Amino acid sequence: MGKKLYIETLGCAMNVRDSEHIIAELKEKEQFELTDDLSKADLILINTCSVREKPVHKLFSEIGYFNKKKKTGAKIGVCGCTASHLGDEIIKKAPYVSFVLGARNVSKITEVIHKEKAVEVDIDYDESTYAFSDFRSSPYKAFINISIGCDKKCTFCIVPNTRGEEISIPPELVVQEARRAAQNGAKEIFLLGQNVNNYGRRFSDRDRKIDFTDLLKMVSEIGEVKRIRFTSPHPLHMDDKFLEEFANNPKICKSMHMPLQSGSTKVLRDMKRGYTKEWFLDRAMKLRSLVPDVHISTDIIVGFPGESEEDFADTIDVVEQVKFEQIFSFKYSPRPLTPAQNYPNQVPDEIASKRLSFLQDLHLSMLDAISQKEMGKVYEVYFEELKPGGYVAGRTDNNWIVKVKGSEELLGRFVDVKITKPGRLSLEGEVLVNEKV
Ligand code: 5AD
Ligand code: SF4
Repeated sequence: MGKKLYIETLGCAMNVRDSEHIIAELKEKEQFELTDDLSKADLILINTCSVREKPVHKLFSEIGYFNKKKKTGAKIGVCGCTASHLGDEIIKKAPYVSFVLGARNVSKITEVIHKEKAVEVDIDYDESTYAFSDFRSSPYKAFINISIGCDKKCTFCIVPNTRGEEISIPPELVVQEARRAAQNGAKEIFLLGQNVNNYGRRFSDRDRKIDFTDLLKMVSEIGEVKRIRFTSPHPLHMDDKFLEEFANNPKICKSMHMPLQSGSTKVLRDMKRGYTKEWFLDRAMKLRSLVPDVHISTDIIVGFPGESEEDFADTIDVVEQVKFEQIFSFKYSPRPLTPAQNYPNQVPDEIASKRLSFLQDLHLSMLDAISQKEMGKVYEVYFEELKPGGYVAGRTDNNWIVKVKGSEELLGRFVDVKITKPGRLSLEGEVLVNEKV
């Protein structure tokens, strides 16, 4: 009987991809099989996130639980961003943890599992050209890393300290991986990086002149690739060349994540985001005029140190002007190793909570109007997932989740669907008969 691996993944799409790399390496080189039964696992991994404080607290209660439920002799390993920033403190606090593996050290997974109390958390480690084994959780879409780390120094963000400096993955490796994935059936390619449109900033193998727009063109030339998505771009690097390629390249899905963080130019300056309220609005409006159907999502932090009522009103003003289709909103969470944790004028929790509820309620009411406008539209949906109650779900090019009555024969297909029922998180529709390839 093969050894069994149980893995829990928290956090962003990059963490999801790191977990796929971990699974791939352990399957191929150490003959592990995946299990979702904790008590049967020989190796239990938790791939953590440390962007806010909550998941870090969750880590220690989670591994305590794993330790109680695990079978005798099973090992527990902690990976990801919290592993990077807490390092050996994790083993001091939870001595039953066998090893700690940082977010930038994933390729060492097959080494650390054989070393008792190994701590591999070097944030200068360069795995940008490491050839990982292949594993994907979905046969229909492929996450592909295009860079590692982040060179921005946003003052609230711990990521530069957990994932290290930014290095771009050579374009020929990205294209090769995209081609292989698409030939194996993943018609949708999801390019990943902390800051994708800063692509080309630094390569560890040699100097070259290439930017994200060039990379998008290269990936879109692969015949089997039908759709391209990416996350996360930075508003500062949304130049005209990039927005025009986004608008004119039919393979690029018309859904853009534009992390606003704050609508106040003063707060943006304190956050060191590198753009103003006006720049953000100009880019968003240009995007809406170039791509009328575009779906714009964003991240917003409320209660950043020094945020006044007027600053918050600027955030609300941007939300009302841009009419984001999706907002991920967070209360500011002071993080270790970041400058903003020491800023004066930390905003009291009750005020931050109030602002967060106001923003979320406002957006919910806007969403009803946004989704109502979708009624009767016809979209091409790429079906990816079976849902309870005899439904199949997929996404439109502009990122609406659409559910229809149907079964597995729809999976992996592009089908025209007419929207019959609006919703805040997903729409419902009916398949039109003229099915496409
Ligand atoms: N507090 C709250 N939210 C944060 N984010 C990053 N750091 C923090 C923090 N210290 C949010 C940002 C980022 C998203 C991934 O998480 O909005 O875009
Ligand atoms: Fe963090 Fe800013 Fe880098 Fe995003 S761009 S990962 S928010 S430092």
